[in-house]
Amino acid sequence: MTTTPPPLLRVRDLTMTFPGRRGRSAPIRAVDGVGFDLAAGETLGLVGESGCGKSTTGRAIVRLLEPTAGSVSYDGRDISHLSQRQLKPLRRDIQMVFQDPHSSLNPRQSVARIISDPLLVQGSSVAEARKRAVELMELVGLIPEHADRCPHEFSGGQAQRIGIARALATSPRLVVADEPVSALDVSVQAQIVNLMERLQRELGLAYLFIAHDLSVVKRVCDRVAVMYLGRIVEIGDKERVYGAPEHPYTRALLSAVPLPDPAAERARERITLLGDPPSPAAPPPGCTFHPRCPKAQAICRTEAPVLRTTAEGEPRQVACHFPESENA
Ligand SMILES: Nc1ncnc2c1ncn2[C@@H]1O[C@H](COP(=O)(O)OP(=O)(O)OP(=O)(O)O)[C@@H](O)[C@H]1O
Ligand code: SF4
Ligand SMILES: [Mg+2]
Repeated sequence: MTTTPPPLLRVRDLTMTFPGRRGRSAPIRAVDGVGFDLAAGETLGLVGESGCGKSTTGRAIVRLLEPTAGSVSYDGRDISHLSQRQLKPLRRDIQMVFQDPHSSLNPRQSVARIISDPLLVQGSSVAEARKRAVELMELVGLIPEHADRCPHEFSGGQAQRIGIARALATSPRLVVADEPVSALDVSVQAQIVNLMERLQRELGLAYLFIAHDLSVVKRVCDRVAVMYLGRIVEIGDKERVYGAPEHPYTRALLSAVPLPDPAAERARERITLLGDPPSPAAPPPGCTFHPRCPKAQAICRTEAPVLRTTAEGEPRQVACHFPESENA
């Protein structure tokens, strides 16, 4: 009998709650029962509006945060509550690229020192780590002669290359990339995306690619998860989610993405969402999207929809009482 190996990353019912401000307001449920699998070498996109919990999910997965509830398993091992000492060998395998390239780099350290850091933590000698740092600079398209410069001497795009080189220093298998191109100009975004795709092909990396730009996610991902107020509302194969979105929120997000063809842009229907997202400290009852949903009905105000498939074999799940394909 053969058994299926566990996915590289398995996340189940992940919940992250922060205390309310100065303990006076209600706790903030930034992530509320998130679950998905990620296979080796695969890219899953995580999209949603600002504040929906994308970065918090990423930080819990790389264990910069300890989950309040639920589990994160890496290669079949539950890492949710490991101590820093127990996590140390895993830091080699699981790395993160941060949202703002400049603020995530120590301004007083040289680039070689910044990229060496994860290797020094793992016990490499200074000389070994520096040699590897210079190789990595070349790999990500930086000039090795600039190894002794400090981050402020680099542009945003170059700083993000430094962040990527640092994340790759220990030859990880999983990289959580938190909005790796959001802070960059469009032309530089394409260069960084190309670089990340090439590195994935060459090194077999799996990416959790966090972004709010749906066009970038469409390009780089195999599957996509759409988050709203701490929960995944739709997840599945990219072609299905982009080609035939089921959830009203996914449909609204996609309807706001500009189309390259001006005629198609004029002809298409735009779905405007009502108001701003509610606070995660006071989520609405039932479906948390109901105050903004153009399709909301009575049941939506009282019963939270669960993530489910709408047809047998459908490679996507949706959390909605009235998904698009079931419209009468
Ligand atoms: N350390 C913290 N303490 C209290 N609240 C927090 C903390 N970190 C995040 N939050 C709150 O949790 C929610 C989710 O934040 P998070 O940064 O994960 O969102 P995001 O989807 O990454 O947003 P963005 O697109 O703006 O980066 C927000 O309401 C945020 O204010
Ligand atoms: S469950 Fe109801 S409110 Fe929620 S997304 Fe679906 S139709 Fe809208
Ligand atoms: Mg974020």
